[in-house]
Amino acid sequence: MPAGNHTGGALVEVPEHLLQRSRDRRKDLGASTGDEPAAEAPASETSAAPAVAEAQAPAAATGPSLPELPDLEPEPELQPEPVKPWVQAALTRKKIPVWAVPVLIFLPFWAIIFAGTLESPERDSEIIALGREVYEGNGGCAGCHGAEGGGGIGPALVGGEVLNAFVDWRDHVIWVVNGSPPAGQVYNDEGEISTAGMPSNGEKLSAREILAVVYFERVELGGAAEADLHDLEELFEDEEVVPEGLSFDIGGTFGSTLNNLLAEAGIGAS
Ligand code: HEC
Repeated sequence: MPAGNHTGGALVEVPEHLLQRSRDRRKDLGASTGDEPAAEAPASETSAAPAVAEAQAPAAATGPSLPELPDLEPEPELQPEPVKPWVQAALTRKKIPVWAVPVLIFLPFWAIIFAGTLESPERDSEIIALGREVYEGNGGCAGCHGAEGGGGIGPALVGGEVLNAFVDWRDHVIWVVNGSPPAGQVYNDEGEISTAGMPSNGEKLSAREILAVVYFERVELGGAAEADLHDLEELFEDEEVVPEGLSFDIGGTFGSTLNNLLAEAGIGAS
């Protein structure tokens, strides 16, 4: 012990009986002293220690030259802390109830199945998604034709109605761009008479938005087969011919403009 060299003089002064008392105390408490070998401890205690203890004990009792040291009782620390009721409850509680085990095993599968149902089975393509957005949102179509296309101020579009009104999807596009003609004019393929109730959208909506909302009305509301609208979808997807910022002109020449765009995109409209 290198430290002992400095304080050796002071340490010698510790009375042997105090050291012995400390040893005895430790022995009584059954605490094994970790630093001394097990074989050495009993040897010193059985041979030399008792003699010293007998000789010193009376002296310590009779001559209390030192002030009575506060008895450092280590017992309270050694006794195990009383276990709190809530801790006890947590320790004795069964962690997972038996019935929960199959539930927990099934949980990941259920999560996968559930995630699968979140995606609508029909594919909401880009054109349908944009069309729905226009119909319900900035196009304001739902306000007059009903949220589900059932009709209102404007005629119903569901159940093939809109397909009969405009047999050719290009006429449908032209209609949405221009809106109603003056009241009293025949406006659709069924020979119906305009009330001039439908606003024009050529300035409000972009060309892509108009193509999308027509696609949406014919497929989602009218019930047309997507295959019948292949040309329309192809035109929508040709972003060189129908770029983001393009809008359709309102007016009588629009029909030929639309056909020109189709020709440009290399699509032979049916
Ligand atoms: C302010 C009300 C109003 C709004 C908004 C409106 N429409 Fe119309 N729509 C009408 C009316 C009214 C008619 C019938 C024509 C008429 O009487 O002038 C009509 C007719 C139609 C028709 C022909 C239906 C048929 O059976 O003849 C289509 C297709 C159509 N609208 C699509 C649209 C689309 C697409 C939008 C949104 C971009 C839209 N409408 C927004 C009022 C409206």
